[in-house]
Amino acid sequence: MARTVIAGNWKMNMTPSETKAFIETLKPMVAGKDKCDIVICAPYVDLATAVEAAKGSNIKIGAENVHFEAKGAYTGEVSCAMLKEIGCEYVIIGHSERRQYFGETDTTVNLRVKAALAAGFKVILCLGEVKEQRLAGITDEVVSMQTKLDLAEVSEDDLKNVIIAYEPVWAIGTGLTATPEQADETCGVIRDTIAVIYSSKAAKEITIQYGGSMNDKNAAELLAKKNVNGGLIGGASLVPEKFTAIVDAANA
Ligand code: 13P
Repeated sequence: MARTVIAGNWKMNMTPSETKAFIETLKPMVAGKDKCDIVICAPYVDLATAVEAAKGSNIKIGAENVHFEAKGAYTGEVSCAMLKEIGCEYVIIGHSERRQYFGETDTTVNLRVKAALAAGFKVILCLGEVKEQRLAGITDEVVSMQTKLDLAEVSEDDLKNVIIAYEPVWAIGTGLTATPEQADETCGVIRDTIAVIYSSKAAKEITIQYGGSMNDKNAAELLAKKNVNGGLIGGASLVPEKFTAIVDAANA
């Protein structure tokens, strides 16, 4: 029931000219592959170019963050209205790199999620445990708590525009991937939490992606798991052939 979504998170990579070349290369490679939604999330300065280059294709464009205030004295921040006007449809919120390096907390993640949903975006909400939490055996508690805090005051109707990306922090950019069983199990815990705070219908329908060193080699195995409805891909989304192979795995 949950739609599969394959999304790239470019992080701090790609200039506007590289963006144009990448999207133009990717377009024919993923054309007609409609068993999943395809999203590229890019740095702010690349977004207008990405939207323009992706026109008429099945590639949707997303930002990597957004501020929760509508406007004002927030040097360096970007608002929902700015992203809307250039045609951006998705936004990643709460990525572990934002939490780790830029002081993002569940409180600010929740504010951003609510603002982005009110503005009509599809939100890719990232959460996941750090290595010490997995080793301490508290992964389930951590992801369940993050799910509850990050989605506080989000209605079941608005939840239809939320994708959750389960990204174990120890698997991001490390080459370490959660096993398909670990990914399935923890995505299942998040799904059960959605059933508790919303409904079993909402739990069935929500897209829960896995992220963390997903690549052209391991995607098929991860995507085969019942609770894994797609991927949020960092490094492998910077190479058209690798990203396409993951889209292919979702279309198999
Ligand atoms: P990698 O695929 O590079 O591990 O990054 C995952 C990620 O953080 C996607 O948001």
